[in-house]
Amino acid sequence: MKNPLIIALDFPGKQEVHHFLKNFENEKLFLKVGMELFYQEGPSIVYDLKEQGHNIFLDLKLHDIPNTVQSAMKRLAGLGCDMVNVHAAGGKAMMEAACEGLEAGSTGKRPSCIAVTQLTSTSEQQMRSDQLIAVSLNESVLHYANLAKEAGLDGVVCSSFEARAIGSKIGSAFLTVTPGIRLSSDDNGDQKRVATPEFARKEGASAIVVGRSITRAENPFEKYIQCKQSWEGVLNEA
Ligand code: C5P
Repeated sequence: MKNPLIIALDFPGKQEVHHFLKNFENEKLFLKVGMELFYQEGPSIVYDLKEQGHNIFLDLKLHDIPNTVQSAMKRLAGLGCDMVNVHAAGGKAMMEAACEGLEAGSTGKRPSCIAVTQLTSTSEQQMRSDQLIAVSLNESVLHYANLAKEAGLDGVVCSSFEARAIGSKIGSAFLTVTPGIRLSSDDNGDQKRVATPEFARKEGASAIVVGRSITRAENPFEKYIQCKQSWEGVLNEA
């Protein structure tokens, strides 16, 4: 799937997911399974959604010693998901180990592996005070993106505001997956670095991740189409 709109299935369990997906009959989607859903349902949620023909981004954001991440990734590769991720803050050796684990656990093509740079809920001020990082947020994201590239990863999770700089420094083949997406009429919630789908497209993002804007909408399918049109350039939104 080229330039997908990935829907974040931030639901407590299978039942809620199936109820939500009734809005999308016949659509083959790119779905993000996060910690809440995976910790509740385990691998069966991935098998179920794959069986329905959807692409899966398993968003567990691994961050541990290299050996542990390598073994965990071997297991995740066996689930058949299409994309997985780690925290770049875990370091280059950990990211290399993640790739090795994925290679070892995959029967066919290994899932794409991307690294979270700075969470889209983190502001520059929070990054400085909580992580004691003295450079700008942009520099920190670019540094992590470079590190991820050197470690052999396929891309990063970043905000739309950093996608252009990463694309021009590392190349457009390196994925920039951008959460923190809202239509201008939506509530930001806990997200800080928020942008519209249209803005993400103009900044060259490879994919957008949309959660609450769609999952909490009165009419999720209608909202999905609106976001998709803004993402694909059919609707002027930004
Ligand atoms: O509801 P909302 O659109 O804010 O959801 C964004 C999703 O993307 C959540 O599932 C969140 O965990 C995830 N995410 C993020 N920022 C990152 C990485 C992942 O918001 N840097």
